[in-house]
Amino acid sequence: MACAASVLAGCTAKSVQASYGIIPQPQAVDEASGEPFRLSSSTTIAYPEGNEGLANDAERLAEYIEQLTGHRLCVSTDTAAAGTIVLKDALQSENREAYELIVDSRNIDINGASAAGAFYGIQTLRKSIPAASSGGADVMFPPVTISDAPRFAYRGAHFDVSRHFFPADSVKAFIDMLALHNINTFHWHLSDDQGWRIEIKSRPELTEKGSRRPCTVTGRNSGVFDSIPVEGFFTQEQARDIVRYAADRHIRIIPEIDLPGHMLAALSAYPELGCTGGPYEVWSQWGVADDVLCAGNDSTLAFIDDVLRELVDIFPAEYFHIGGDECPKTRWENCPKCQARIRALGLKSDASGSKEAKLQSYVMNHAAALLRENGRRVIGWDEILEGGVDGDITIMSWRGQSGGIEAARRGHDVIMTPNTYLYFDYYQTADTENEPLGIGGYVPIEKVYSLEPVPAELEGAERDRILGVQANLWTEYIKTFSHAQYMELPRMAALSEVQWTDQGKKDYDRFVERLPQLLDHYRANGYNYATHVFDVKGELKPDSVARAVSITLSTVDNAPVRYTLDGSMPTEESALYESPVLIDNTATLMAVAVRPSGMSNVYKASASFSKASFAEVKEMSEPHPSYKSGGRASLVDGIFGSNGYKDGLWTGFTARDPEIVIDLGNAQKISKVTLRSLVHTDNWIFDMRGVRIAVSADGHKFNDVASDTYPALSAPAHEIVSRNLYFGPVEARYVKISVEIEKSIPAWHPGKGACSFFFTDEILID
Ligand code: ACM
Ligand code: ZN
Repeated sequence: MACAASVLAGCTAKSVQASYGIIPQPQAVDEASGEPFRLSSSTTIAYPEGNEGLANDAERLAEYIEQLTGHRLCVSTDTAAAGTIVLKDALQSENREAYELIVDSRNIDINGASAAGAFYGIQTLRKSIPAASSGGADVMFPPVTISDAPRFAYRGAHFDVSRHFFPADSVKAFIDMLALHNINTFHWHLSDDQGWRIEIKSRPELTEKGSRRPCTVTGRNSGVFDSIPVEGFFTQEQARDIVRYAADRHIRIIPEIDLPGHMLAALSAYPELGCTGGPYEVWSQWGVADDVLCAGNDSTLAFIDDVLRELVDIFPAEYFHIGGDECPKTRWENCPKCQARIRALGLKSDASGSKEAKLQSYVMNHAAALLRENGRRVIGWDEILEGGVDGDITIMSWRGQSGGIEAARRGHDVIMTPNTYLYFDYYQTADTENEPLGIGGYVPIEKVYSLEPVPAELEGAERDRILGVQANLWTEYIKTFSHAQYMELPRMAALSEVQWTDQGKKDYDRFVERLPQLLDHYRANGYNYATHVFDVKGELKPDSVARAVSITLSTVDNAPVRYTLDGSMPTEESALYESPVLIDNTATLMAVAVRPSGMSNVYKASASFSKASFAEVKEMSEPHPSYKSGGRASLVDGIFGSNGYKDGLWTGFTARDPEIVIDLGNAQKISKVTLRSLVHTDNWIFDMRGVRIAVSADGHKFNDVASDTYPALSAPAHEIVSRNLYFGPVEARYVKISVEIEKSIPAWHPGKGACSFFFTDEILID
């Protein structure tokens, strides 16, 4: 090992203090009083002679320390010397990933139950170093005993390199991120409709053709395409290099070839493997394609065998992932070969599944058998339960946790990766307007943290079926690695605590307190990460007595919050938030949390007032039971909804044209009605087709004063629409708003001909 002992005594250098407030929270941290251990340029790292696993760990530790402090430590096999970080793998534990880390003034001992266990001790030591201030410094480690072991043996992270291609250096950087979070499994999604990304020497067209697409749809399947080619794949040599890189960090790679759906890229190369024979193209848009592998074709099975045989040689991990999600049966239902196979196998539709679902199980079991012959085990997405599969196949529960519950009850092993908690392609903030375009969804970090992966519904041995937990990153909307990091971090920190820390030792508030120390490590590594967790959160409540909107502000760490009400950007000198702010005039509150590290993103909240504010909504047609907002009064409470239709602030109507009557309390001169509505066609929420305003002095006899009509929508839309209806000033006490909703969804939409929803959050009258 090339390194030179420093001639300078370490104690002349500046020093910083280590802190054991790390993520994931270790199972037991016992700090003692006494002299600290000083890590200086003359500290050495030692491992027992001849122990290759620990020699590799020692090299990693030396790299981490050099990166953080600038000290390149000598690595030796003298484990008895003072001033040494000693690595061992002699800990007696049933958990091979367990470790004990003991610091005293003389030494730091990291004793793993295996080299992997020692590696997690190294991660703990590394994360204890204050990365923001350790450059060039010695590090003082207070005496401590940390006894630690992971809760789950399977701690995974998935990365889709098909929808967008991420080259080898990005994949290695991703693996480094996993190591920092004690994650031991990298699920590498290597094939999909939009690109085949791994060289298969016996099937060269897979990468010749299948790894390239000339363009990509813009927006959310807008129908408009860019002209930017997306291409790339990993040679087998590159893949082997990445496997080694991961293994050096105690991370196994589970490759996924998604069968028998999500196969357009492969079909574009080998169209004879499809039911129709093609031609097919590498897909340039998102979703679920009807064209899948033909399960009635013997050459399909030979194709699967060829691909898996080559991958078995590259990937040593015990597990392989063979997909199985989102495989439409449309082609199979109409394919003579698939139907002949169904007859030959004697498959019948019954309560346990359709004959086509069972045909899919036949394909999955075929792939599993080949892998079994090669000493491997198989994972598939939860859809494969539909046709029933071999009992030794592990189920990855992604459509919530119900597939995992069902699988565990049927005796399958399970990995929990519920989209509702662990899809990191989903938005991490409700304020999606200021985010890069995403697939949708909403999984803030606190939601990730709140996951309990062993559902209460499971009992006894069923509970032991839950092998672990994984987050998934699908990359339809993620084109750069920097964006991938932003989606992963710091949600991966929350994931790591779900995976590692015993349930009773988890605490979200403490987690957030420990997060800044980990963020310093993100910065030291140049990672791009999201900071929403530290933004100001606000809660708006109508106060009908004060006829005002009350805004309560908070932050996770009770940082001081400064705010303005005059439209100016808040600064460190703006008003200090002390108690809920009452707003009784149209205004926008802007607030920031002020910390020594700087100011947070700006939080904005508006309240809008008019002559209708806090008036009585005398009549209102019955809204849909799921979209009642806060009742009638919410239409005049000054509080607007966001562009998320489920935020509880929108009142939704369907089936019948809604009518609303507002009583202003006394006759007033009015000349304008503003009706706000949400359009979100993906969720069948459409613009209204017409509106009529009528006024009355007595609440019985109404006179029309304004009306308008609006064209049917001709394209998908997601926006908030504010419609103003003007009329000559009139004196009136009652105002009736009659809306004509879209009762026949246009032909371009999947809901063609059905009645839409109409959503409104507020009515203003002036
Ligand atoms: C999946 O998200 N289709 C597994
Ligand atoms: Zn077929």
